[in-house]
Amino acid sequence: MIHIVPKPTDTPDDNSTAMVEREIRALGGACRSLDLDGIDPFENDLDNELIWACGLKQDEHQFEVLQALSIGNTVVNSPLSIFTCASKVMTSALLVRHGIATPRTLFSASRDTAEKFLDEQGRAVIKPVYGYDGNGIFLIDSPDRLGNPPYYLQEYVPNDRDFRVFVINGEAVGAIMRVSDTLAHNIHQGGTGMPCEISPEMQEIAGAAARAVGVDYGGVDLLSYGDSYCVLEVNGTPNWHCMAAPIPRLLAGYLLEKERSLRK
Ligand SMILES: Nc1ncnc2c1ncn2[C@@H]1O[C@H](COP(=O)(O)OP(=O)(O)O)[C@@H](O)[C@H]1O
Ligand SMILES: [Mg+2]
Repeated sequence: MIHIVPKPTDTPDDNSTAMVEREIRALGGACRSLDLDGIDPFENDLDNELIWACGLKQDEHQFEVLQALSIGNTVVNSPLSIFTCASKVMTSALLVRHGIATPRTLFSASRDTAEKFLDEQGRAVIKPVYGYDGNGIFLIDSPDRLGNPPYYLQEYVPNDRDFRVFVINGEAVGAIMRVSDTLAHNIHQGGTGMPCEISPEMQEIAGAAARAVGVDYGGVDLLSYGDSYCVLEVNGTPNWHCMAAPIPRLLAGYLLEKERSLRK
């Protein structure tokens, strides 16, 4: 039995959780919905079970409960990796540590240091540390727009599109390019997604990024960078909008395999 935490943003027309549930059942597996808001994190009947978090509310409760459940169960993605992906700082630190190409990045509480970085770069992308869906991301060229500390500032990489690569178990299985007239090409910011080929360079860097942050599967955001790519971030609860690859089936297969490995 796979215990599934449904994606809070599911709608009847766009239901990621149901798409994977259907495939799990089609492959002969069993699954049921897990209500993190209702379960007692200290006393419950889950033991050595596989829990899949399709999504998670960004509140103060769900993540903690999931973490508590990970003590006696296997959670995909692991709460630690979901948290790592949510933090742009932890993600950058791991990318740098693993020697994975990523735009030059500054994280500092010092206004002087931030102004110096901006001055050296001429312009820079500023992002909220726990941002998502392209929210709160700006290209700035003046210290007046730095706002309040801490400052997460990044080298601006000129582009007209970005790439979202879906990785399962270290392997890129699907990719789209996203195009828009704005800085952030996220679908939620009005970007248009189109399936694209997975080049060998894309395969290598996206797989390496997913391994570096420790996810079983994830959505890796890339920009063209020199003659290859750089990594912006990895999403630990990604959707697969606009992907041509059969992601729900591939995810279902991966989860069932993982569940089988618990029973060995
Ligand atoms: N350093 C950068 N240079 C140019 N564009 C960027 C840069 N960082 C982010 N972007 C644009 O903003 C989008 C969102 O950035 P990202 O780091 O993925 O944050 P989010 O978690 O909000 O998706 C990217 O997909 C890309 O289109
Ligand atoms: Mg992104």
